[in-house]
Amino acid sequence: MRGPVRWLLVAVVVVAMMVDTAAGRFVVEKNSLRVTSPDSIKGKYECAIGNFGVPQYGGTLHGWVEYPKSNRKACKSFEDFDISFKSTRSGGRPKFVLIDRGDCYFTTKAWNAQNAGAAAVLVADNKLEPLITMDNPDDAGTEHLENITIPSVLITKELGDNLKKSAENGDMVSVLLDWRESLPHPDERVEYEFWTNSNDECGPKCDMQMDFVKSFRGTAQILEKKGYTQFTPHYITWYCPEAFVVSKQCKSQCINHGRYCAPDPEQDFSQGYDGKDVVVQNLHQICVFKAANESGKPWLWWDYVHDFSIRCPMKEKKYTPECSVDVIKSLGLDLDKIKKCVGDPEADEENPILKAEQDAQIGHGKRGDVTILPTLVINNRQYRGKLDKSAVLKAVCAGFEETTEPAICLSEDVQTNECLENNGGCWQDKDNNITACKDTFRGRVCECPVVKGVKFVGDGYSNCEASGIGRCEIKNGGCWKEARNGKTISACSNEVSEGCKCPPGFRGDGIKSCEDIDECKDKLYCQCKGCSCENTWGSYECSCGGNNMLYMREHDTCLSKEATSTVGWSFLWVIFFGLALAGVGAYAVYKYRLRSYMDSEIRAIMAQYMPLDNQEAPNQHHVAHAGDDI
Ligand SMILES: *[C@@H]1O[C@H](CO)[C@@H](O)[C@H](O)[C@H]1NC(C)=O
Ligand SMILES: *[C@@H]1O[C@H](CO)[C@@H](O)[C@H](O)[C@H]1NC(C)=O
Ligand SMILES: *[C@@H]1O[C@H](CO)[C@@H](O)[C@H](O)[C@H]1NC(C)=O
Repeated sequence: MRGPVRWLLVAVVVVAMMVDTAAGRFVVEKNSLRVTSPDSIKGKYECAIGNFGVPQYGGTLHGWVEYPKSNRKACKSFEDFDISFKSTRSGGRPKFVLIDRGDCYFTTKAWNAQNAGAAAVLVADNKLEPLITMDNPDDAGTEHLENITIPSVLITKELGDNLKKSAENGDMVSVLLDWRESLPHPDERVEYEFWTNSNDECGPKCDMQMDFVKSFRGTAQILEKKGYTQFTPHYITWYCPEAFVVSKQCKSQCINHGRYCAPDPEQDFSQGYDGKDVVVQNLHQICVFKAANESGKPWLWWDYVHDFSIRCPMKEKKYTPECSVDVIKSLGLDLDKIKKCVGDPEADEENPILKAEQDAQIGHGKRGDVTILPTLVINNRQYRGKLDKSAVLKAVCAGFEETTEPAICLSEDVQTNECLENNGGCWQDKDNNITACKDTFRGRVCECPVVKGVKFVGDGYSNCEASGIGRCEIKNGGCWKEARNGKTISACSNEVSEGCKCPPGFRGDGIKSCEDIDECKDKLYCQCKGCSCENTWGSYECSCGGNNMLYMREHDTCLSKEATSTVGWSFLWVIFFGLALAGVGAYAVYKYRLRSYMDSEIRAIMAQYMPLDNQEAPNQHHVAHAGDDI
């Protein structure tokens, strides 16, 4: 008769707890869905975020909606129906699959849709009701839980019917899923809580919880140490209804005389650990956090939980307070303080720590009651989705005011695999392994990259081009380049405005080709008499007729080797000779004039002493003029 009694008790305890929290409520977390086409149903709607898969917290996702012709509940593999939702051409938008609710687990539907290439799942409700949160019963349908990576949302029956009608009419139905406002992001610090349980033998959900702690620990500690986040762990307990306090069941599940209870780990009171062992360990974990927080190192909680799960597992029968003490000591935490905080579990009195936990369980503000274990609460809103490092980090990152996200939010840690599929619809250069697709926690962006210091510019979707200094280093800036006989010729210039230009001696578009110009055939150069022209790659050779002639390339002419002059020089010689001749001539005239002046001077002087044949007085005037004339 043990079995029925046990189940009755569990039922009563759960009912008691629910009555207690009747004032609170469960909040359905939502994101927005915008229909962008067709016009008839255009508008903004709400949908409920499923509690599995990876919602794109902080980001958006745009896609075409497809309503499959068969397997509309997606309970079977789409492969059996030869249906695929993969984008067929590059640049194609991802596809969202519209699925009918019913007949199988939500996770099964999402898993089948994901395997068929869907980027997201829209489940249409099958009755008129407010939105609900899609989740699985505790142990059922969990086999795909950890492998679902696409987001799933539930939409109302009304919106579902409209989308189906449009899709069946052959309209292109385009939808934008938007999670940017799903979490408040008021400031530069994110407050988050993890509602958990120290029970390590509750099946897939407990394993997932532990895997999450192990993988997220490092990230959580970085965020906490740098002051980006304030983290608090929480533990759910319930109390035993008064009438049952002295029952064997409550005694094994509860501490402090029925005040704080947890379910039996193996669901069997007769063996292994009891619920009260779990409560005691939960209490140790809260007290560890309090002590760590007071010493200014709240992140030590992650180390404690991690180490405890490895050093003190239930299956090795080490899930004991003694083992806990060893872990506490090894982390250098204040043991006395923790012991005082834990108090005496056998005492008939309240434990202030666990009392506070029970109070915190009830929703306040927009948060709603915590009823799903484990649950993450980020900025006072419940996180929905897979408990997975990158999915959770994405959500935590979405809680920062935009542009204040720490670097860890923009690193590879939060990358999704959107770029793997079809390169996210972004530009790429496969040959050179360059892509414009970049994963960020806000979703993938198509942004021309910077590769080896060279900036690419363009729209990021259909084109990106290297620009600036060094652009020729990469793929030769998209320009023509060819090497022959050890000589490399390129049409690329570091000035992006010049684009691709064939160098002198070539002609062409500079991108696909530059052709050598045959200067000889085109009679561009080397047309001198007796010259022989020979075309080369990018240039030409010209030789003049006769051995003692030299080809002057810049003047495209031949000159005698002996004449050390060139055309230019001979011209200068002419000028020089001309000037010299003019100088000599002028000197001769001067000499002549000077002589005739001297003659007349002397004659005038001599005339004063002796009578001359010529009696005329010397012409002073004329002489002066003669001197000026020279
Ligand atoms: C889920 O993923 C894990 C690890 O990636 C893998 O070992 C497991 O086989 C997957 N399960 C299914 C059902 O594909
Ligand atoms: C942890 O410490 C911080 C600052 O010292 C305090 O603001 C916060 O309330 C503490 N958290 C808990 C759960 O005691
Ligand atoms: C392409 O580049 C990425 C990162 O830059 C690298 O991880 C990957 O191995 C490269 N692939 C090839 C084929 O070179």
